[in-house]
Amino acid sequence: MTQSGQHTAPQRGAHRIAIIGGDGIGPEVTAEALKVIRATGVDLETTEFDLGGHRYLRDGEVLSDATLAELATYDAILLGAVGTPDVPPGVIERGLLLKMRFSLDLYINQRPFAGTAPGGTVPHEFVVIRENTEGPYVGEGGVLRKGTPFEVATQGSVNTRMGAERAIRYAFELAMTRRKHVTLVHKTNVLTFSGDLWERAFNDVAAEFPEVGTAYNHVDAACIYFVQDPHRYDVIVTDNLFGDILTDLGGAVSGGIGLASSANLNPARTGPSMFEPSHGSAPDIAGKSLANPIAAILSAALMLDFLGETEAGDRVRAACEEPVTGSTTQIGDTIVSRLVG
Ligand code: NAI
Ligand code: MG
Repeated sequence: MTQSGQHTAPQRGAHRIAIIGGDGIGPEVTAEALKVIRATGVDLETTEFDLGGHRYLRDGEVLSDATLAELATYDAILLGAVGTPDVPPGVIERGLLLKMRFSLDLYINQRPFAGTAPGGTVPHEFVVIRENTEGPYVGEGGVLRKGTPFEVATQGSVNTRMGAERAIRYAFELAMTRRKHVTLVHKTNVLTFSGDLWERAFNDVAAEFPEVGTAYNHVDAACIYFVQDPHRYDVIVTDNLFGDILTDLGGAVSGGIGLASSANLNPARTGPSMFEPSHGSAPDIAGKSLANPIAAILSAALMLDFLGETEAGDRVRAACEEPVTGSTTQIGDTIVSRLVG
């Protein structure tokens, strides 16, 4: 407060953002997202990091510990998409995306959706909170007698009470700012060990939030409701694998993958959070200015929210509400003109 009683803007420097355009359409959509968030007037200082499949093919680096340590000093990371068809599966996913999620403890994957039930016209907004550091993605398991008829492969799912509980608590805290309802999605009837851990953690956290209503869906039933009755949802919380699949379905029922945004959050703020569209590098349309940059732009809006620039984030979302067509750059230009117009 000043002496005259007026609030002054907090004195702070520019937000320091690490940009990883990545491969394929990643750099194309990221350029539009940056163009749009710059047009909000929010003060950003950006640094580009040359990472992705193309970099790996050039000099073998996926994500060195030194680069990771440098990324960790930023306020946020904005990522396009990584992966090229000529890099074997797993190299970039494990070496870059999962390494960032695990090392930077990005334990929440948050994806907003606007689903419309069949016959309905008004999209219903809901959000999926996916646990982002555990489950089968940890890499527990192994293979025996590979390539023989007697091959054995196991892939364990790691569930910790701490990991489940912090994701669930985040979902309830988010619900308190929304319509105050959380649905747990799991498969407790079959996955009795991990499902039981999740269910007890959910019930314990729910007891701390008496104002928040709760529900439980098996993941297969949730797939039906995503398509037929999304109106039942406000906040959904689920594990890493179910969340991966459900969020792709969420994208498909709410306007397509070109609109689906995502945030990989470290809510404890012990380091930067990472924001990226849900889609991949789309090599089939790369370099043709055919990619829809809206998912990247909406992901950048989530970044603005997390940086405390919620007013700018709201403006970007409002500018994306009306449908927009054109090339990648034309769509970016239209959103910018709506912001400054
Ligand atoms: P994808 O999301 O790249 O493409 C699937 C389909 O959706 C393609 O037909 C593509 O043209 C279309 N599409 C995707 N984004 C679009 C956009 N913004 N506008 C218009 N159309 C769009 O998934 P795919 O083909 O399975 O993966 C391609 C590469 O991307 C792989 O190397 C994969 O590993 C990687 N990938 C990376 C992700 C990341 O960086 N987080 C996530 C998913 C895939
Ligand atoms: Mg996915």
